[in-house]
Amino acid sequence: MAKVNMDLTNEEQSMLAGDCGRAVQIAMRILAALGRIYGAARLIPVRSAQIAGVSYDNLGEAGLAWLSEMAGGDGHVCVPTTLNPAGMDLENWRTLGIPEDFALKQIQVIAAFTRMGATPICTCTPYLAGNEPAFGESIAWAESSAVCYANSVIGARTNREGGPSALASALTGRTAEYGMHLSENRRPGITVDVQAHPSGTADFGALGKAIGERVEALGRKPIPWITGMNSASIEELKSFCASLATYGGLAMFHMQGITPEADDYPPHADRTAVTEEDLQAAKRSLTDAAGDADFVSLGCPHLTLEEVARIAELLRGKRVTKEFWITTSRAVKAIADRQGYTESIEASGAKFAVDTCCVVAPIRGRFRVLATDSAKACYYARAKNQFQTQLMDFDLVVESSLTKRTEGNSQHTKVTPSPDRGEESRSSQI
Ligand code: F3S
Repeated sequence: MAKVNMDLTNEEQSMLAGDCGRAVQIAMRILAALGRIYGAARLIPVRSAQIAGVSYDNLGEAGLAWLSEMAGGDGHVCVPTTLNPAGMDLENWRTLGIPEDFALKQIQVIAAFTRMGATPICTCTPYLAGNEPAFGESIAWAESSAVCYANSVIGARTNREGGPSALASALTGRTAEYGMHLSENRRPGITVDVQAHPSGTADFGALGKAIGERVEALGRKPIPWITGMNSASIEELKSFCASLATYGGLAMFHMQGITPEADDYPPHADRTAVTEEDLQAAKRSLTDAAGDADFVSLGCPHLTLEEVARIAELLRGKRVTKEFWITTSRAVKAIADRQGYTESIEASGAKFAVDTCCVVAPIRGRFRVLATDSAKACYYARAKNQFQTQLMDFDLVVESSLTKRTEGNSQHTKVTPSPDRGEESRSSQI
């Protein structure tokens, strides 16, 4: 038996000894190793798991082989478990131009997870699709945007798990007690005074970039205690979380008057300010392409029903001229179907890309320029898919899908990020 420094219960010792099967034994070894590395005193129960590393584009053959081994080793999840986006829409992958050989591999990945009892709902917003923890509950979530949302907005407790450690927690119902599970590690380490007026998902993504990079530059990744914000919607917060986690590597923030643990702490003595100019500079930095985008996508993180409704309203009776992916969870799409939103959207030529997103799908080389409202999508479109990007306000992204493409994309009109906020600041003249 592996030597561990944590106090394990008899049941946990038994799991580690292999009494509950090979998969659970491997899972316990992962958790024991993490506990040892991070100095955890014990394992604690988790309420749910969210597993990343689901797209075959990220997993590859080695990842699929490991999952198949775990699924074949009598592994079965013992807490509610959802999955991150896959590399394709599990039903309509052909519509999105996904190659058949990729699709067959992706189906094997989902089959392995399903065999282990995971719910095959593939989304990065599990909190909008039935996997919503309560305040104070410990969970084991991978997917950095959802981790940041769970810790900050919901007040649940999770570290930034990797795919294997989240699966280990799902199979054992436990995680090592360290990091964000401990109250002392949730204390703010810097006060961020927002002297700007962000509005909408693009602005909140840019704000997350500005704060994330500011904190990242300090080297010690202090949890920001953010003041100066009057309100924030669910959509704005999920965009902010995705961006803060991407550009700052942060698992949590506090926002005075908005997040549930902010009032537990006084402002931190170390202070920094983010101005309107900082916010606009962050927005400008995410637009590096002139002229038409040839790929339009909304839904990073996955869209809420209200966002889908807004897209339907904007597209009703119109035809898109670009490849336009609308990415959301199967749960939200099901309601959109009933509400008639799907019909309006698909009649326009826009495509639902359910279960997946513009980052984890195998689309490198297919497009040149992505138009989106997501700062996180911009980061990965550049880094993973080598696209240029245009960050726009939500409504402007939809509008950009309707404009006629410039012939051969040769005559480019500079797309200038909005100097102001809101719908009235439309500077995209294509
Ligand atoms: Fe979700 Fe894909 Fe963005 S997983 S947060 S839509 S990169």
